[in-house]
Amino acid sequence: MNSSWHFRRLDASDAPALHALEKACFTLPWSEEQCRAAFGQTPFAAFGLDSDRGVLAYISVYITADEMEVLNLAVSPELRRRGIGHRLLALALRTAAKMGMQKAVLEVRVGNTPARSLYERHGFAVAGRRPRYYADTGEDALIYARSLTNYDAAAEERKELHMKTLIAANWKMHKTRAEARQTATAIAAGRPASNERTLIVFPPFTAIAEVAAAFAAQEGLAVGGQDVYPAEKGAFTGEISPAMLADAGASWVLTGHSERRHVLGESDELVGRKTAFALGAGLHAMLCIGETLEEREAGQLEEVLRRQLRTGLAEVSAEAAARVAVAYEPVWAIGTGKVAGSAEVLEAHALARRLLVEVLGSVAHDIPLLYGGSVKPDNAASLLALDNVNGLLIGGASLEAESFLRIAGAR
Ligand code: 13P
Repeated sequence: MNSSWHFRRLDASDAPALHALEKACFTLPWSEEQCRAAFGQTPFAAFGLDSDRGVLAYISVYITADEMEVLNLAVSPELRRRGIGHRLLALALRTAAKMGMQKAVLEVRVGNTPARSLYERHGFAVAGRRPRYYADTGEDALIYARSLTNYDAAAEERKELHMKTLIAANWKMHKTRAEARQTATAIAAGRPASNERTLIVFPPFTAIAEVAAAFAAQEGLAVGGQDVYPAEKGAFTGEISPAMLADAGASWVLTGHSERRHVLGESDELVGRKTAFALGAGLHAMLCIGETLEEREAGQLEEVLRRQLRTGLAEVSAEAAARVAVAYEPVWAIGTGKVAGSAEVLEAHALARRLLVEVLGSVAHDIPLLYGGSVKPDNAASLLALDNVNGLLIGGASLEAESFLRIAGAR
């Protein structure tokens, strides 16, 4: 589908297509007549991502001499997780900056967390509030603004690159070196051609070098350790240091996996020290969080995630936060075949995003949030379509290359 996409300026003749897209995206879509009236005007401009199946995404803006107002941004559900919203917004901002505009503004419903997080990632900050602005719900509107005077196009592009979806395999205590080599070779040969997804494999320590060799430093493929100890070296029998992981070819490490917390008894505090130390040594860290069934049933979801994120990321600097990913794995869904429902995943991920912002500030919007727990080829696409799900962490279904690749290619 990629090959047939193109961005183009939209006009009144696109009204039926825009109306159809609006209907797929909004609870209160513009009518076809409203689309025709708006898109036929200047200085009202719209840019759309067009394909042989119609307009799949658009952004509309209102332009004055020195200001651009973003009026609407709609991305079809099938494209949601592919970073298209980010690209459209970046395109509009770049164009406005090139045209010499000083400022970009927009307004958004207070409750529209996904849109707010998109805009905040692109440098918008709250500049005002309109109480009970929306007639249908009585909700407040937030006015967002960002300056375009020192627009750094290179930095903005780097941000877009961080939007890749992460598909991670946790092999746990499975596979000899020969088995690992075989599976990793098949993964490298069969991975999706698109570069929108990064595949990360966490083999047992003994097989890291084998997997790294099979991946041969190809872009989009990475290897990680399943655990790490927060010291450079010393009398820590059975443990492994970040430098040893890196030496074997790992660039990532998992911290706080629920099996380490619940089977091996790791505390939040130790998980925090491991995360900070691994990041300090230059590795990427994937911090795992998640509640047990008892905690969920006792209404403690927020409390547990807040504690795990606060303590798990306690010593992480803003610079190191660029190398953090967080995997939400409800303990009751791990290895049980019981995948969390869409509503539960949406709620937990929105909560995790909010808590991450609480802990790390605005950089938290760039942190990939993965879901894990009984992910399979047949539920991967619907999980990846959810807001704030930026990747998947897979146990059992990642052991066979064929099944892992089906998940990696799921749309
Ligand atoms: P399963 O996919 O086997 O449920 O395991 C999830 C997990 O723990 C990945 O880290």
